[in-house]
Amino acid sequence: MPAISATAPGKIILVGEHAVVYGQPAIAVPVAQVRAQAVVSANPRGNPGEVFIQAPDIAFEAWLADLGVDHPLGMAVRGVQKLLQLDHLPACSLRLSSTIPVAAGMGSSAAVSVAVIRALSAFLGSPLPDAQVSSLAYEIEVIHHGKPSGIDNTVVTYARPVVYQRGMPIQTLEVPVPFTLVIGDTGLAASTAMAVNDLARLWQADQVAYDPLFAEIGQIVQASRQAIASGQPELLGSLMNENHILLQQMQVSSPELDALVEAALRAGASGAKMSGGGRGGNMIALVEVELAEQVARSLVRAGAVGTLINQVSTPPRRQV
Ligand code: PMV
Repeated sequence: MPAISATAPGKIILVGEHAVVYGQPAIAVPVAQVRAQAVVSANPRGNPGEVFIQAPDIAFEAWLADLGVDHPLGMAVRGVQKLLQLDHLPACSLRLSSTIPVAAGMGSSAAVSVAVIRALSAFLGSPLPDAQVSSLAYEIEVIHHGKPSGIDNTVVTYARPVVYQRGMPIQTLEVPVPFTLVIGDTGLAASTAMAVNDLARLWQADQVAYDPLFAEIGQIVQASRQAIASGQPELLGSLMNENHILLQQMQVSSPELDALVEAALRAGASGAKMSGGGRGGNMIALVEVELAEQVARSLVRAGAVGTLINQVSTPPRRQV
């Protein structure tokens, strides 16, 4: 059996994070410059069922049999085995690598799961369809995040801009006029689960105050979707600014994120906001493409530890 490799991109949430947990829609886009990769190769000298997993970047090595039932990598491998109804996996090695920043709101955990599920199922001769890849990756996200909305596994699996709403069929979003985002990393690792739980407590204590904020974000998402679909991405700038203010009111931003948002706007971005769970991680700025480098440099001067320039467009359909 030849070695089989699969990759999955990072992602960034354009608008709608947090409110999406409360049933509002959100838009997320893939970030193809950063990726997780899984390579599965046969181990002809091994015994059936012996699966060796290694991630040299993080000095991780383990046999599948030694991973607990709730270990994310073990769940991905055993989940594929179960879906393909195999009694034993052939002896093989699974090698993982990723350039996606961890705990930064860029979908690192979902991308690793998707790459593993795709590479292993293809290695076993039965590549799983996207819907099954995404739903197994979701089960694993539950272990990482507690109560994820499902947006990460969806955008990372389909690797296209998506409008995601809990309980609704997945909707991909065409981007007739591409636009440019600069992504700025605060360098602060932040727990999405903690931000989500803190907001849940605030909401439980005062639903009358928080429900309208979520609804307002829902309207921003619908307007953003309309702006993208109608080829007017320049309208996104003010919508992103409004979304950031609402996220500040929901107490999920941070002084570091706010400082990067302000720096981007001062440098000429037409809109900027935190992205993802907040408290740290990344922010995004909408820019004219010729201003992208300038905005990125301003973000670094304002404290960003890394920047990425991401062109959002409709990618070609993936060949299965
Ligand atoms: O921190 P991220 O990018 O994984 O995103 C979290 C997005 C939230 O809406 C805050 C939570 C969720 O599960 O949707």
